[in-house]
Amino acid sequence: FNSRLLDRVQLTITAGPTREAIDPVRYISNHSSGKMGYALASAAADAGAQVTLISGPTNLPCPDRVKRIDVISAADMHGAAMAMMGECQIFIACAAVADYRPNNCADQKIKKDNDSMRIDLVRNPDIVSAVASHSLRPFTIGFAAETQDLLRYARGKLERKKLDMIVANDVANTSIGFNANDNAVTVLTANGEQNIAQMGKNQLAAQLIQLIAQQFLNVQS
Ligand code: PMT
Repeated sequence: FNSRLLDRVQLTITAGPTREAIDPVRYISNHSSGKMGYALASAAADAGAQVTLISGPTNLPCPDRVKRIDVISAADMHGAAMAMMGECQIFIACAAVADYRPNNCADQKIKKDNDSMRIDLVRNPDIVSAVASHSLRPFTIGFAAETQDLLRYARGKLERKKLDMIVANDVANTSIGFNANDNAVTVLTANGEQNIAQMGKNQLAAQLIQLIAQQFLNVQS
C-alpha cells in the first residue's frame, strides 16, 4: 500500500447518523455508529490526505490528523458540506442522513394527551447529490445501505445522484451493517463492479481508500 497515494489531497467525509428534532427532548434518527466513516477518515489520513470529517452524533474519538466538524441534523450536515466546496477534491458520503425531518419542531415537550398522534415529515436535502451537481464538484463517492435488491438499488443511486462511485452495503445482514465491527461491500462505478469480502471496518476502509485513490488519480491524469 503506497502510503502517500493521496498526498496533500483535500478529502471530506460525512459519517454517523443525523438527528431530526421532534421537540426539545426527542428526535428521529437511525443506528449508524460512525465506525465506517471514521475508519475511512483514518485510512485517508494514513494515505496522506488532508481530511475533514463532518460527523453526526457518535461516541467515537476523532482520528489522529483529522479535522472534525460536529453536526446534529441533516440541514447542519448539508451546510457544512456546502461550505467545503472549493476546498475539497474528494467527497465521501458515508453518513446515514435522515431522508425526512419533522415539519415543525415543537417549542415545548409534547404532552401525551391523545392515544395516537401524527408527525408531519418533510424531505431533507440530499447532500451527496448537491455535492455531485455543484459547479466545484469534487470526485464524489456515495454509499448505498439497502435491505433488498442491493446492487440494483445501488446502481440506481450511482446514476440518479450522478456519483463517480458507490459502495453497496447489505444492511439486512447485521454482521456487516449498522454498528457492526465488520463490513463487506460491492464497489460500483459506471463500468465496473468489485467485491470486498467481509473484514474489519478499519481494514476494509484501507482497501476502499486505495480503490478511491486509483479512480481519482485516473480521472486527474
Ligand atoms: O456508521 P456505521 O455503524 O459504521 O454503519 C455504516 C453504514 C451502514 C452507515 C455505512 O456503511 C452506509 O451504508 N452509509 C450510507 C447510509 C445511507 O443512509 O445510505 P442511503 O442508501 O440511504 O443513502 C445513499 C447515499 O446518499 C449515501 O451516501 C448517503 O450519505 C447519501 N445521502 C442520503 C440522504 C440524504 N439526505 N443525503 C445524503 O447525502
